[in-house]
Amino acid sequence: MPLALTRPDLLRSANFIAGRWCDAPAARLAVTDPATGAAITEVPDSGAAEARAALDAAHAAFATWRKVPAKQRAAIIKRWNDLVLAHQDDLGKLISREQGKPLAEGKGEVAYAASYIEWFGEEATRMNGEIIPAPVPGRRMFALREPVGVVAAITPWNFPAAMIARKIAPALAAGCTVVCKPAEDTPLTSLALVLLAHEAGVPPGVLNIVTASREKTPEVVDVWLDDPRVRKITFTGSTPVGKHLARRSADTLKKLSLELGGNAPFIVFDDADVDAAVEGLMAAKFRNGGQTCVCPNRVFVQRAVFDDFAQKLAARVAALQVGPASDPASQIGPMINDRAVEKIERHAQDAVARGAKVLTGGRRLPELGPTYYAPTVLAGADATMACACEETFGPVAPLTVFDGEDEVIAAANDTPFGLAAYFYSRDARRIWRVADALESGIVGVNEGALAAEAAPFGGVKESGYGREGSTHGLDDYLHTKYVCQGQLD
Ligand code: SIN
Repeated sequence: MPLALTRPDLLRSANFIAGRWCDAPAARLAVTDPATGAAITEVPDSGAAEARAALDAAHAAFATWRKVPAKQRAAIIKRWNDLVLAHQDDLGKLISREQGKPLAEGKGEVAYAASYIEWFGEEATRMNGEIIPAPVPGRRMFALREPVGVVAAITPWNFPAAMIARKIAPALAAGCTVVCKPAEDTPLTSLALVLLAHEAGVPPGVLNIVTASREKTPEVVDVWLDDPRVRKITFTGSTPVGKHLARRSADTLKKLSLELGGNAPFIVFDDADVDAAVEGLMAAKFRNGGQTCVCPNRVFVQRAVFDDFAQKLAARVAALQVGPASDPASQIGPMINDRAVEKIERHAQDAVARGAKVLTGGRRLPELGPTYYAPTVLAGADATMACACEETFGPVAPLTVFDGEDEVIAAANDTPFGLAAYFYSRDARRIWRVADALESGIVGVNEGALAAEAAPFGGVKESGYGREGSTHGLDDYLHTKYVCQGQLD
């Protein structure tokens, strides 16, 4: 099906470096529709030369962009936000075509992305420092906040607009310049966003984007890792890659924001509103087909409410409409690629082989295409199963029964990860006890939809460090300079 955009020029197929669309290199990377494998277009399969050109441009632009008054940077970022919202339909189509999420969700993601751009446009004017009372006469002491410098942003495929927005908007707001490598599966949305940023007035060199295949990505990123002019890396993706970036950044001591893997627990206590818990799990687990870092991966349900919860959840999940992103009735689209479906299938099969029972789903949907998997609920899951130890990143909800609060907190925390955790309870004392005890950067209490531009998003333990969104999301792009003026008496 042709991609009918109101503005066909939003579909770009070149790198954007120093304010120009650059076709080099000759090597190309096909961008495909995950539902069918059909090519949408091709983008450059870049290497070290393009990475270096982008970095040279960002480094040169930093000298002037950092001096642009915050109010002017804010005005440019706000214009970017307006343009993103004005092109919500086209951007939503691009997202759902290259990533596979249903069109309504694609458009929803554009609004979500814009909320971060708007927020950081406003935050740009609030980069206040401090005047520190001097401990001796004749001195004035200041803490100034300065942009860290060139930022390398490496973004994932699951939210091609939102993840770009919440990395690039704060970088621009702080006065940093950016080199960006979008995910190989979904570069088109990011190229369209960069075009709109340019139209909004982001000067040449301030925002540069280089596309590359999975194979060529290390060549691009190594240039940025090795170069001391890159002062910060911001990355969303897997924990092994995050650790690699941290190790490789050590020689030049770059600042890092790492939003890495999760293994979120979702706990339903027997004092919970079971219907609300079912709805919360539906929102948290099946958003983007379960391909979300904060998706519940392990669902713990207290024995007294287990059967009620499991039966209601299975009925809701069985009713989900699976289909192509372009079908307005679809609620779950295809998974991003073959490897993703293989992992989901392996997790479900492993759980069943170890004694779990399929309440609904539990199979591929070849009648729709090779990348579709049926939304699934499994009962009788336990900690030995792959789905309890690894992030499934798909529409599979494994349910585990538990008896006591201490037992479930220990189980929930028994993972190296700590991005999100959820629980449902109506007991006020339990709510604060459990919220305090969960080892997690984000906790949802009687709520399944947590992310918001005004909230700090990020993990603890091996889910990474740094925060995106909120005032903390700007701090990650700033450092503090202490200035002491003497001889004033
Ligand atoms: C993610 O999956 O990394 C982001 C999810 C979100 O913003 O809610």
